[in-house]
Amino acid sequence: MYQLIFATNNRNKVAEIQSLVGHNFEIIPLKEAGIEIDIPEPHDQLEANAEEKARTIFDMTNQNCFSEDTGLEIAALGGEPGVKSARYAGEDRDFQANIDLVLHKLNGIENRSAQFRTVICLIWEQQTYYFEGICKGQILTQMQGEKGFGYDPIFVPDGSTKSFASMTMEEKNQFSHRQKAVTQLFEFLSTL
Ligand code: IMP
Repeated sequence: MYQLIFATNNRNKVAEIQSLVGHNFEIIPLKEAGIEIDIPEPHDQLEANAEEKARTIFDMTNQNCFSEDTGLEIAALGGEPGVKSARYAGEDRDFQANIDLVLHKLNGIENRSAQFRTVICLIWEQQTYYFEGICKGQILTQMQGEKGFGYDPIFVPDGSTKSFASMTMEEKNQFSHRQKAVTQLFEFLSTL
């Protein structure tokens, strides 16, 4: 069994990723690794923020670890909220306020194309690797569904008529940006 520290305290993400990787890897969230910090995300690129998180944890623990950074990129908003996805409507990272702001900005706009993009930064045996997963879709005009987190209630992936928030975790995993990036990560690890 391999252990990998995952630079997050978001329980939804830990559950999502653990459900993808099965029993060969134990995903250890920061709290369980005894680390209590809120890592800053100061950069304007997902890649740079992901590396900053992984590097911070590696420097503290000297253990194999990975981080992921995800943004919702909306075409009609020039790629916003992007790296600002968590704090789009303010520093308190309020999911509902973020959704309200997106719906407000897209009010009356026909082009609803968007994509979630996940970047994973892995530090394995002191080497740094990147993996990317993209899920293309559309932004709804109103919220649909109760599950999930973040922008799930207003995002419908291409190939489905249901929002992410109307799907079970297994259904969401079939489309999910994070799933695609994590699959690449574990395909890479399985070649080591
Ligand atoms: P993070 O930097 O990976 O934590 O993601 C930043 C923000 O993007 C989160 O706070 C959520 O608002 C949003 N986000 C990330 N992944 C998802 C997802 O799978 N569904 C909906 N929103 C997401």
